[in-house]
Amino acid sequence: MLSVISSRTVLLTAVVALAVLLPAAPADAWSGAGFVKRGAFVKFLVTATAATAATLPAATIAAAILTLPPAATTLPAATPPANANSCGNTILPESTVPGAYYVKCFDQKIRQITLQDGQTLDITQGSTNAGMGGRTGIALWNSSILLTRLLTSLCAEGRALVSSSAKNEDVNVIELGCGVGLPSLAVAKYVKGVAATDGNEEVLQLTRQNARDNGKGNVAVGGLRWGEMLDDSYDNKFDLAIGSDLTYNSAAWPLLTETLVSVLRPNGRFIYLITGHAGFNLESELNGFLTFLEGAGGLRVNAVLGRELTERMRALVGAEEGMVLRDGGVKVVVIDRK
Ligand SMILES: C[S@@+](CC[C@H](N)C(=O)[O-])C[C@H]1O[C@@H](n2cnc3c(N)ncnc32)[C@H](O)[C@@H]1O
Repeated sequence: MLSVISSRTVLLTAVVALAVLLPAAPADAWSGAGFVKRGAFVKFLVTATAATAATLPAATIAAAILTLPPAATTLPAATPPANANSCGNTILPESTVPGAYYVKCFDQKIRQITLQDGQTLDITQGSTNAGMGGRTGIALWNSSILLTRLLTSLCAEGRALVSSSAKNEDVNVIELGCGVGLPSLAVAKYVKGVAATDGNEEVLQLTRQNARDNGKGNVAVGGLRWGEMLDDSYDNKFDLAIGSDLTYNSAAWPLLTETLVSVLRPNGRFIYLITGHAGFNLESELNGFLTFLEGAGGLRVNAVLGRELTERMRALVGAEEGMVLRDGGVKVVVIDRK
């Protein structure tokens, strides 16, 4: 069923694997080593520019992601709050702790997120007491909040997420590596249905609870490990895939690519957002992933948006500047299924 990875991709896998460092860092249990740390180098083969975006012009995406929700006007200083309960929508800088990266807000049991479209979502997170190794999805990452801002802003403005011929209310969405599920829950009110998926059962339990607590009846939560789909229930079902912070492990790049080709309908779209992590190299991470993806043949990079977001973020979001400017800032990638 999942046979889209060509020998060309295998070759690219080998080339990129040689080019990246494989440091000792906690991986998700099923994905092994292969984290893309600072100092790694992968030649940037993808030349797509923002100008090629068809239905989501760069300026639109940049404006959407940088339009902060109302609560942002009361953001605390960049210093993490002493009390995690005050996290709210805050994008906090990461502090490196031995073997991992971490923000204070991971410790908050329920994180309340208010969006600029008026939605307020209560997101339950897992306990960090048992560590994050293999369970990175138990907490809400900065990328997830930024992706949610982007998607809800576009929808609230009436922008077509996939193509001008597909109304958002007819669109079926799948989130890959959904973690605690914020983007899925937030976009649900604008689309036909959302499949919030992840490979970790503990994470899925949290997402189920979050869907229930926030009354999101059109969000179906289910297990999906990239490259390991046991049945065809997700095959060719989705117009739009979304995801945030999924490419930190190079071993996952071909699996993620394979999964995207499998779940997306022809002409479907993947909107992916990542932020830099303390000690990780965002450029290498993204470029390595996109190299795989283009080599696999079923997908086309429509737009890569980055530096312009960072510049505007710097001007607009003083309290978030530290996180945003470090380690490569923020990037949004729009990828189309051929
Ligand atoms: C860094 S977390 C990001 C979670 C969420 N997207 C966010 O930004 O808050 C990475 C997520 O990908 C999931 N994941 C990692 N490898 C996976 C795989 N091979 N298949 C499915 N999910 C995977 C993890 O369980 C985790 O939920």
